[in-house]
Amino acid sequence: MNRDEATLAELRRAYERGALLEETVAEDPLVQFERWFEEARAGDVLEPNAMILTTVNELGRPDARTVLLKDVSDGGFVFYTNYNSRKGRDLVGCPYVCLVFLWTSLERQVRIEGLAERVSATESDEYYASRPRGSRLGAWASAQSEPVASREAMERRLAELEARYLDKPVPRPPHWGGYRVTPDAIEFWQGRPNRLHDRLYFQRKGGNWERRRLQP
Ligand SMILES: Cc1cc2nc3c(=O)[nH]c(=O)nc-3n(C[C@H](O)[C@H](O)[C@H](O)COP(=O)(O)O)c2cc1C
Repeated sequence: MNRDEATLAELRRAYERGALLEETVAEDPLVQFERWFEEARAGDVLEPNAMILTTVNELGRPDARTVLLKDVSDGGFVFYTNYNSRKGRDLVGCPYVCLVFLWTSLERQVRIEGLAERVSATESDEYYASRPRGSRLGAWASAQSEPVASREAMERRLAELEARYLDKPVPRPPHWGGYRVTPDAIEFWQGRPNRLHDRLYFQRKGGNWERRRLQP
């Protein structure tokens, strides 16, 4: 590391951009999420819909990767992926996941715990049809999470698919589609001075949401 730079241990910043108070937070955490999401979109957050998705495999070992939030509907958070991928295989054994949004420029984090279920084929079809043609072909070209001999092999496969579907509609691969994560807990975190951050934790109890403030 460059000597003029701060050491890792010295890297820290004061959080003073906002506050998250009981008086102003929405009663429904999905409404609060929409508010913060709109602020992330309007602000200087790069890829505001990027979220970390955690899964657990059959040995109980956790894994995490980034996916893109594509919809918030029917009380849940929707992302799209390959059902045969590592995450897809994990979800067969354990459908419980966490989603984490980190919006550093707003000094905010949102943590979601919930149950992931496949969206309907019709819903996946509709979203798939809205994707650019290259992305649609890419879904066929990639056996996500499987090893491949080389980059060239992937590019050859894409070229074959381009030739096969020339002037034809590209159907959705049956192994590609969405999951909707229905939350049972959502935590909103807002950085505050002196590490006394605001944390409001919503937990679903029956048909209602219970809210508690957590220590930072
Ligand atoms: C910003 C960003 C967005 C991503 N969005 C998606 C996505 O929406 N769906 C997806 O399957 N993979 C997405 N990926 C790739 C995943 O992080 C991951 O590499 C891939 O899904 C394979 O994960 P798995 O082997 O654990 O199943 C994204 C990666 C990044 C960095």
